[in-house]
Amino acid sequence: MVQAVIINGNHKKASRLTGIHQFIEDYLEEAGVSSTSIFVHELPAKDLITANFASEEIAKANQKLADAEIIFILTPIFKASYTGILKTFLDLIPQKGFENKKIVPIAIGGSIGHLLAVEYALKPVLSVLGATEILNTVFVLDQQVERLENGDYKIQDVVLDRLNDVLQKFQAHLIK
Ligand SMILES: Cc1cc2nc3c(=O)[nH]c(=O)nc-3n(C[C@H](O)[C@H](O)[C@H](O)COP(=O)(O)O)c2cc1C
Repeated sequence: MVQAVIINGNHKKASRLTGIHQFIEDYLEEAGVSSTSIFVHELPAKDLITANFASEEIAKANQKLADAEIIFILTPIFKASYTGILKTFLDLIPQKGFENKKIVPIAIGGSIGHLLAVEYALKPVLSVLGATEILNTVFVLDQQVERLENGDYKIQDVVLDRLNDVLQKFQAHLIK
């Protein structure tokens, strides 16, 4: 059984958000925490936009969430909010699907002006889904992550420190 699921609400993989995603995956692997990822844009688009609750692929994704203890929710900031792509999937998660889960929202944006987008836009939705344990949020400025020529990502130390803090906190919760 996986302990952690990373939901990625981006519209593509070639993104600085992927650098953050990979960092979390690597951290979890090293910590011995089993994890799996859901890239929302890889789920069947028609099922997402028609809110097809009968979709097998969506059911499989929801089963991953049901089995997980920790759910990371990664999103770029689009138009002062989390992505519409992510919302299409959140709408298909069963009511109270985040109950008893530890949730870590992580956003990347181009403007510090949208630092609070997770607070005012995403957190109310997480609450409706039953989340009560949203222990930390990390907001990353896209300038703090560099895409290297070889396709890897270089994340500034200040961001790595914040990510490490969050991950260590969640690891401690797992061991309890
Ligand atoms: C359609 C669109 C809308 C965006 N809107 C915002 C926004 O309102 N606020 C913000 O801080 N960044 C905004 N951004 C920037 C992205 O959040 C962010 O920098 C990006 O996802 C990371 O860049 P990358 O995927 O090109 O590496 C927007 C980007 C796109 C494509």
